[in-house]
Amino acid sequence: MSELQVIEYESLGRSNAQFVDELEAAASRVIRSGWYVLGQEVSAFEAEFAQYVGAKHCIGVANGLDALILSIEALDLPKGSDILVASNTYIATIIAIVRARHKPVLVEPELATFNMDPARLSDVMTSNTRAICVTHMFGKPCRMDAIGAFAKEHGLRLIEDCAQSHGAKLGDQMTGTFGDAGCFSFYPTKNLGAIGDAGAVVTNDDGLADRLHHIRNYGSKQKYVNRYAGINSRLDEIQAAMLRVKLRHLDGITVHKRALAEAYFTELPSWVKRPVVRPDEFDVFHIFGIQHEQRDDLRQHLLVNGIKTEVHYPIPPHKQDALKNIISGEYPIADELHKTELSLPISVGTTFGEVRRVCRAIQAFCVRTNR
Ligand SMILES: Cc1ncc(COP(=O)(O)O)c(C=O)c1O
Repeated sequence: MSELQVIEYESLGRSNAQFVDELEAAASRVIRSGWYVLGQEVSAFEAEFAQYVGAKHCIGVANGLDALILSIEALDLPKGSDILVASNTYIATIIAIVRARHKPVLVEPELATFNMDPARLSDVMTSNTRAICVTHMFGKPCRMDAIGAFAKEHGLRLIEDCAQSHGAKLGDQMTGTFGDAGCFSFYPTKNLGAIGDAGAVVTNDDGLADRLHHIRNYGSKQKYVNRYAGINSRLDEIQAAMLRVKLRHLDGITVHKRALAEAYFTELPSWVKRPVVRPDEFDVFHIFGIQHEQRDDLRQHLLVNGIKTEVHYPIPPHKQDALKNIISGEYPIADELHKTELSLPISVGTTFGEVRRVCRAIQAFCVRTNR
């Protein structure tokens, strides 16, 4: 019998194989240029990415966490403001609020979509609330129509964590352009992934863009003239060049991932709880998260069958030691999602044959356990 071929959750070498020649040529171009920090590649990527998402400005930074921290800082909110944030987001969104010296106030998500529930915003709003920071979880756009209307009604600033939502749209509008700032991570596994750490902020606000251009570079836009006490969080030339290559392929990457999602929708047993599809939401499926009561057993069963999966995320933010003196209260929906979520392989390198094998293995588990 032939040995069981392992299905990786993500293999970056395999995912990037189709881009290697272009990436190597771009890296070589940068090395030979002799200009490695804040040069033509960064400017060109910023212009190309701003155009792609439909924003006036893009400011490249070192990573997605810095994109969030610097955007929140640049808003210049009163110190210690309450900022509303989803209770099930990746902890980086919450850490950014803390590091910008504000108070994260958790809003429970919709159980079916993993996204911030607009109906719960008024329950957590206080006189100290100044902003909302949404995360478009797993590549699915949040209900920015309802959240935007709430922010407007209450005079709140709006930041979007788009680390998982490159190219995702609500209606015709791309995530990142609904609020004051859209914050992107280009961590290698993201739909638009660099060959290392990288991030960016997009905005239509000239003043905010100007502050961010300063803050990412020691508070300086002019050599040795410092307007703010900024930091060093520059996107470097090599990563910008890598991202220019990958950006040209982003729509193709999205087409492949959406087709894999379609295959899961068709082939998963009908009673498996899968992502919700709504006609006006263009989901880019950074992650394909199903839910199952016996998640850990199912995960183990898949592993035994040579299928690697992930959990996003095993511990909810309010149960992390890092936040124990900052967040209190009960978050049962976050608890439930963290207990039941299982992410199936859906990377650029994943094949339709692999999706079929995953679905067959899930079917076998459910027959064995009578669901
Ligand atoms: C939702 C979310 N926010 C923020 C980040 C942080 O991005 P980075 O790792 O580039 O700092 C991530 C990255 O995993 C993320 O998934």
